[in-house]
Amino acid sequence: MSTPLLDKSETRIRRMFGAIAPTYDLLNHVLSCNVDRYWRWKTTRLVPPARKGAILDVCTGTGDLALAYWRAAGGQVNVIGADFCSEMLSLARRKAARKRASNVRFVQADAQNLPFAANQFQIVCVAFGLRNISDYRRGLAEMVRVAQPTGQVVILEFSRPSNSLWGRLYCWYFRRILPCVGQLISGHSAYHYLPASVLEFPDGEALAQEMRQAGLENVWFRPFAFRIATLYVGTKPGASQQARASTAATQKHQVLPRAMP
Ligand SMILES: C[S@@+](CC[C@H](N)C(=O)[O-])C[C@H]1O[C@@H](n2cnc3c(N)ncnc32)[C@H](O)[C@@H]1O
Repeated sequence: MSTPLLDKSETRIRRMFGAIAPTYDLLNHVLSCNVDRYWRWKTTRLVPPARKGAILDVCTGTGDLALAYWRAAGGQVNVIGADFCSEMLSLARRKAARKRASNVRFVQADAQNLPFAANQFQIVCVAFGLRNISDYRRGLAEMVRVAQPTGQVVILEFSRPSNSLWGRLYCWYFRRILPCVGQLISGHSAYHYLPASVLEFPDGEALAQEMRQAGLENVWFRPFAFRIATLYVGTKPGASQQARASTAATQKHQVLPRAMP
């Protein structure tokens, strides 16, 4: 059973992000010394978009990864940012308008039940969001479902820092200082939830394994800055591979007719 601090019911999570939305960007950039911006930019470099095919950013919040991908694609592709928190989406829309990103659209949607047909997007990404989804496995399954065959599923998420001196120093900052500064500026306890939720969420090989179980292939991951955050990438199998896999599965489970006595 989860503690009240780690209660990830949709209502609580939506309310929490609604309450911290006005100071969300400021705190992100201050608490990470702007490194969060670099991580999103780096994500678009390591998994660059093609000039064709829409991109979906799940749990988009104030839209930073959606806009980073839009920029990386030279403004040439349609990008959709989806989130269930209307306060975050309002800020995302304002940001997109300021950047004249007319082909970036924001929609209110639950990541566990995306309102998109299967096999749509060249890239389906999520930054610091998967961990907050009530049933993150369902969220991951939805990301895989809407990705096009051979499309990329991209997850940027906090991870447990390495045991190096810097890693341990960061851990102390993350658990002791960040929550207090976060609470002071936002007036909300959400920043106590942040380290607690990171510490209980799978990272590294464990999350990569979850991605394979969700049906992704060629899964790889790359830690950033003493493993403070990690980028995970997997490819949705092509249509022919999917057909082969499903035939093999059917054959494996087929009940063979019993030989007549
Ligand atoms: C930590 S913020 C990340 C925002 C943004 N991706 C970023 O990089 O800053 C997590 C976001 O996930 C959203 N979220 C959490 N659970 C969700 C769900 N089930 N469906 C849609 N959005 C969800 C929250 O509303 C919040 O905006």
